[in-house]
Amino acid sequence: MKVLGIATSPRKGANSQTLVEHILAGAKKAGAATELVRLTEKEISPCTGCESCKSGDGCIIDDDMEELWNTMANADAIVFGSPVYWGRLNAQAYPFIDRFYAHLKPDFTIDFPRGKKIVLALTCGGMPPEGLLPINAYVKNVFGYLGCVDGGFIWQNECIKPKDIKKFPEKLKEAEALGKSLVK
Ligand SMILES: Cc1cc2nc3c(=O)[nH]c(=O)nc-3n(C[C@H](O)[C@H](O)[C@H](O)COP(=O)(O)O)c2cc1C
Repeated sequence: MKVLGIATSPRKGANSQTLVEHILAGAKKAGAATELVRLTEKEISPCTGCESCKSGDGCIIDDDMEELWNTMANADAIVFGSPVYWGRLNAQAYPFIDRFYAHLKPDFTIDFPRGKKIVLALTCGGMPPEGLLPINAYVKNVFGYLGCVDGGFIWQNECIKPKDIKKFPEKLKEAEALGKSLVK
């Protein structure tokens, strides 16, 4: 059992990454192997929409996306953590998500191991809960194309400065419990 964390925040001590780390720590305590990938440490270029991928040759962009795709394929659960920027994921998240397209066949099916759990972890300054639901629905829909199933959603407001999340120990406990729940 392997749980992969993907954190999109560019900041050191990022609140959303800390949430992901606590989810991974919970999974590890329950016996899972874990890995954390920081998207800002990867080179992932935006999709250009060239459609070369649909002629059967794969994506023509040569960067870290293929390696990350294989890392995802080998995980049993994926924890995706992002700050909320202007009511959505941050910019780093979207080139990564767009590049899933290269793996969609012309009929929009995909060869990817099905049934992985996808968890979303968000931190923000002061979002109304109903403002976060579309972000969760969006991420679950995108990962749904990969055959992933909903593994949970966790979020915390009032996380403006790095490490603000530490002021919410109950949330970090909840994150650990969520991580444990991912382990079969
Ligand atoms: C460009 C930018 C846009 C933001 N937009 C929002 C927003 O729409 N709603 C909100 O509640 N917080 C917003 N914030 C605050 C961040 O969501 C918050 O600081 C978050 O916890 C940062 O996560 P991190 O520490 O993981 O980077 C924004 C921050 C930045 C820098």
